[in-house]
Amino acid sequence: MKIMVIGSGGREHAVVKAIKKNPKADEVYVLPGNGGIAADAECVNVAATDLDAVVAFACEKQIDYAVVTPDDPLVLGLVDRLETIGVPCFGPRKNAAIIEGSKVFSKDLMKRYRIPTARYEVFTDPAAALAYLDTVPAPIVVKADGLALGKGVTVAETTDEAKAAVLSLMRDKKFGKSGERIVIEEYLTGPEVSVLAFTDSHTLVPMVSSMDHKRALDGDRGENTGGMGTVAPNPYYTEEIAARCMREIFLPTMNAMNAEGRPFKGCLYFGLMLTPDGPKVIEYNCRFGDPETQVVLPLLESDLLEIMLAVTEERLAEADVRFSDRAACCLIAASAGYPGKYEKGKLLTIPESLLDRVYVAGAKKEGESLFTNGGRVLGVTEVRDTLSEAVAAVYEDMRHISFENKYCRSDIGRRALSASEDAHG
Ligand code: AMP
Ligand code: GLY
Repeated sequence: MKIMVIGSGGREHAVVKAIKKNPKADEVYVLPGNGGIAADAECVNVAATDLDAVVAFACEKQIDYAVVTPDDPLVLGLVDRLETIGVPCFGPRKNAAIIEGSKVFSKDLMKRYRIPTARYEVFTDPAAALAYLDTVPAPIVVKADGLALGKGVTVAETTDEAKAAVLSLMRDKKFGKSGERIVIEEYLTGPEVSVLAFTDSHTLVPMVSSMDHKRALDGDRGENTGGMGTVAPNPYYTEEIAARCMREIFLPTMNAMNAEGRPFKGCLYFGLMLTPDGPKVIEYNCRFGDPETQVVLPLLESDLLEIMLAVTEERLAEADVRFSDRAACCLIAASAGYPGKYEKGKLLTIPESLLDRVYVAGAKKEGESLFTNGGRVLGVTEVRDTLSEAVAAVYEDMRHISFENKYCRSDIGRRALSASEDAHG
C-alpha cells in the first residue's frame, strides 16, 4: 500500500513508526517530513499547506491512502481535495476541521449543545472588547478566533494584560485574519488532561489520556510552547471522570457535529480542564496532539493503520483498539531560547540504540549527519510498568543525545507523579 503522511514534526514521526508496523505499509512517503523522519520513510520536499502540490504528488505516485496530521492543511481542506481525486484519507474534511479552525464556531457549538466549557463573549470590535474587559474581573482569557501557531491564547492575570492582548490581536493584527474575531472567556482552574479519540462519526473510542507540559520553564513557568514533554496516562483522569467525559463531552460533541451536518472523521482531540464544577472543554483540536501522540501511540497495542482505515471506512465499531496499561513519558529537547529566538544548524548525535524511541521534530540531514533545524528538535519516549520508571528512563536516554545549547525541562512528569502518590495515599 502506498501511504503518504502529511506533516513534519515529532508527531508525524510517531505516526510513521506506528503505521510501519503493519506489513501492508510497504511504501510510506512523508510530505515534507524532516531529516530524522527520513530514516523511517521517504521524505518529499512538498509543504503541507501547498495543497496543489500535495494533490499533484498523490496523483503522480498513485497514493492509496493519506494521513493528514497538521491543523493547517486540515483547516484548508486538504482532505476534501484528496477525496475528489479518489484518495481516501485519515482526517476530517474542511467543514469538520472548523472545530479547531474557529474558536467562535467551537464555543457556539458547545453553548448550543450544552457541552461544558468556560463562559464567553465574542467580539469583532476592539472598542467593545476593551469596554467589556472593564466590567469583568481578572484573571481572564483572550483567544484569537483562528489558527495562530498555538500562540493565540493569553491567560491574562490583570485587566491591563488582557487589554494588551486584545490590541495585539485586533489592532496590530499579530496573527492576521485569525485575530479579527476574538473570544474573551472565563478563567478556569484545575488539572489539564488531553484526550485524543478516534471517531468515524458513528462511534467514538478515546485513547489513553495524557498530560502535556506547555510552558517553557520548570514549574510550569515561562512562555507557552508547542509542548516540552508529555506523560500517559494522566493520573488525574480517573475512570469515573472518563465515564463522565464520555457522557457529557465526547459523545455530545460527535453528535453535535453530525447534527450540524459536519460529521467528524479522524482524531478528535479534547483539551480538558478538571474544574471544581466538573470537566470542561478548554479547546478542541481536529488532529493528533504534539507531543501527546509521542506517548499515546507507543502505548497502542493494536494496529494503528487498521484503526485508521476503519475510521475512514466508517467501521470503527468493529476495530480492535487496545492500549497497554503501562506508563509512558516523552521528554522534548529544544534549542536554547525556544519559543523565542534560537540557533539552528548544530550537529545532532543520537545513539543508534535509541533510534526506535526518538521522534525527530526539527532536524536536517546533510550527508550522513543530522543538524538541528527547529525550536523543538526531538523527543524521546520510554514505556515502563510505572511512570516513575518511564520518567527516569527518558532522562537517562537524554544524557546520550547531544547538540550544542540543548534545552530540556528538568521536571517532566513531576506533577503527575505527585498526583498519583496523592491518589494512592
Ligand atoms: P490553548 O492554546 O487553547 O490550548 O490554550 C493554551 C493554554 O491556555 C491551555 O492549555 C490552558 O492552560 C490555558 N487556558 C486556555 N483557556 C483557559 C481558560 N478558560 N482558563 C484557564 N486557562 C486557560
Ligand atoms: N500539545 C497540544 C497540541 O497539539 O495542540
